Amino acid sequence: MSQNVMIHVDHLTKDYGAARPAVDDISFDVRQGEVLGFLGPNGAGKTTTMKILTSFLAPTRGRAEVAGHDVYTDSVEVRRRIGYLPEDTPLYKDMTVLEYLDFIADVRGIPKENRRPRLKRVVEQCGIEERLGSSIGELSKGFRQRVGLAQAILHEPEVLILDEPTSGLDPNQIAEIRGVIKQIGEEKTVIFSTHILGEVQATCSRVIIISDGKLVADGTPDELSRKTSGATEILVEVGGVRGNDQDPLVLLRHIEGIDEIKTIKTADWSLSDRPRATTFRVTAKPGVDPRGDIARVIATAQGMDLLQLTPEKASLEDIFRKLTTTQGAA
Ligand SMILES: Nc1ncnc2c1ncn2[C@@H]1O[C@H](COP(=O)(O)OP(=O)(O)OP(=O)(O)O)[C@@H](O)[C@H]1O
Ligand SMILES: [Mg+2]
Repeated sequence: MSQNVMIHVDHLTKDYGAARPAVDDISFDVRQGEVLGFLGPNGAGKTTTMKILTSFLAPTRGRAEVAGHDVYTDSVEVRRRIGYLPEDTPLYKDMTVLEYLDFIADVRGIPKENRRPRLKRVVEQCGIEERLGSSIGELSKGFRQRVGLAQAILHEPEVLILDEPTSGLDPNQIAEIRGVIKQIGEEKTVIFSTHILGEVQATCSRVIIISDGKLVADGTPDELSRKTSGATEILVEVGGVRGNDQDPLVLLRHIEGIDEIKTIKTADWSLSDRPRATTFRVTAKPGVDPRGDIARVIATAQGMDLLQLTPEKASLEDIFRKLTTTQGAA
């Protein structure tokens, strides 16, 4: 896989004249073969950024390049290399699907003689074989979205920019479209915005989160969960034999590196020969890993077994909420 930078965003700002810019000084690079999930709450600036990258909107300050071409001064080259699925797919409602795709092939300058195999492939990929004769106006939202994706990939663009490609699709369709995105992402470069966080985990090699126009996170889903969780939380499950009155909570409280302990589950004594198990969620002091101490203290205590010692990772949803709510962003 080549490491070419395909999208270069450099201190990009878009000011519509409101109290604060819609996109506020963001910078990032996307390399060939990356599938980048672009996350942010409503109004964060995702669509605005994508419109600038596709040369539909001029930046107020800063710049962006696609495959080395400036999106503002070199928009013809940029558009040639980009496939774009806009948020509100502007399809020609009176055309049939086939007429529309043929029209797009004209616009994209795909020679007539190469057209059939290319159309066939795209129609298969997007699962619209049976709708080629339908007029676009009578398609369901999901099928319209598929036609939108088909037009975006028809000319085999190097860079694909998809603004909420799975919005309005049913779960089966979502799975199919994700499959298409993943497949394309193996060779090409893809940015897509979404509000479905599970989608990002399933599809993306990298995530960017923006909030109020500002970039608040950039990394792989794993990196983000490590970075954002800050204090590490650890699940500790302690088993004890009946008749042992020692309380594991007391032992844990004596461990230096532990900041907070919550008891989250206590198994009952329904079966007399079963050891009682208690699960604690332990918050470590910043920068400290108390697992060694926990293991030692519990395992050496009389009549106590250490059944589980598991660091918990923040979910993408936790991270998103933490970074994009006003308290979190402040
Ligand atoms: N043409 C416009 N003129 C003025 N303000 C605009 C325009 N387009 C968008 N905005 C504003 O810019 C901000 C960012 O909007 P944008 O559409 O980029 O957000 P988004 O992240 O795509 O949100 P969503 O998740 O709802 O699609 C919002 O405050 C929006 O109201
Ligand atoms: Mg949007």
